[in-house]
Amino acid sequence: MKVIQVAHGGGHYPVYVGQGLLGVTTVLERHLSGRVLVVSDENVARLYLERLKPALGRIEHKQRLILPAGEEHKTPASWQRILDELVALRAQRDATVLALGGGVIGDMAGFAAACYMRGIKVVQLPTTLLAQVDAAVGGKTGVNHREGKNLIGAFHAPEAVVVDLDTLSSLDERDYHAGLAEVVKYGAIRDPAFFAWLEANAEALSARVPQALMEAVYQSVRNKAEVVAADELEAGQRALLNFGHTFGHALETATEYKAYRHGEAVAIGMALATRLSELLGRVEVGTSERMIALLDKLGLPTTLPEDQSAERLLGLMRLDKKNRADQIRLVLLDALGQGCVMPCPADDIREVLTQHG
Ligand SMILES: NC(=O)c1ccc[n+]([C@@H]2O[C@H](COP(=O)([O-])OP(=O)(O)OC[C@H]3O[C@@H](n4cnc5c(N)ncnc54)[C@H](O)[C@@H]3O)[C@@H](O)[C@H]2O)c1
Repeated sequence: MKVIQVAHGGGHYPVYVGQGLLGVTTVLERHLSGRVLVVSDENVARLYLERLKPALGRIEHKQRLILPAGEEHKTPASWQRILDELVALRAQRDATVLALGGGVIGDMAGFAAACYMRGIKVVQLPTTLLAQVDAAVGGKTGVNHREGKNLIGAFHAPEAVVVDLDTLSSLDERDYHAGLAEVVKYGAIRDPAFFAWLEANAEALSARVPQALMEAVYQSVRNKAEVVAADELEAGQRALLNFGHTFGHALETATEYKAYRHGEAVAIGMALATRLSELLGRVEVGTSERMIALLDKLGLPTTLPEDQSAERLLGLMRLDKKNRADQIRLVLLDALGQGCVMPCPADDIREVLTQHG
């Protein structure tokens, strides 16, 4: 097991990464207090709820809430159900919410914990690769509004994050590979040695070899921890975490969130952003080839579908309020392992969207 301490608001919380951790009583027990509510979704509960039994054995007042799975249930109504359950449990300020699941459960349970009695503890037990390397670390919580994703939320740091790598074995192929896109992101924006390690270990990662998973998750969490510690409330360098995301979000919106997993759209976005960095002369020629080769080896898409119009995608990218009509703020690369945030001319963006559409 490895432990990473994440600094926030004067304190810090641990992220434990290892195999079989859901069943390790000593890890979980030290972070539980008061009455305990376990929040999970129906898929994850069926697979992993049992494993928490030893750690919860000595807790007298506990309850579980199993919500339906899926992004469409990341709603104020589900959040309300978590609060109702805390009230029914007569949870006090010392109570603990245990969030067992992917990013959807983690975000909702974290937001309920942020609001109940103005803030109680949440321990994150992420079970998807995306949640382990990204969503569970950093303290962002929330739910969707019908008018937009993650419109309602709060910053609420977890008490601890327990990453049990064993849970990744049951993940659907597409969900697993989509999570790898965020792993590549950390290497690309700030860690050249990690990027090179990913290139050398792509096959092992694709095959979910435990030692490779340990290193990939550990390095990703370490990178995310460093970024959020330096910029907890997203005023500066946390923006680098959006590498590939501006293109990716436009593509997700254009395809109505139906054609791509988030990570798949981000992978295409990272390929495009690297091509744009090359077009603008910020990185040496051949850099985008390296990026695309790595994403390919990790089973991720790198090109836009043929039926996507460059003009429509550009229009969607312009919607961000920070942008002027002729310039769009994007995360680009100065090298593999060094990101930067830049306003980019719309004409250059159009060029990469057209060439590779
Ligand atoms: N808070 C943040 O900083 C942050 C960062 C990135 C993403 N997010 C959020 O995370 C969400 C996406 O997270 P996600 O991709 O984990 O989605 P998810 O939680 O919907 O999980 C994806 C699917 O996998 C299933 N699942 C989860 N763990 C499993 C396992 N071990 N084995 C088999 N099936 C399993 C789930 O039931 C679900 O059907 C989005 O809502 C996004 O906004 C938040």
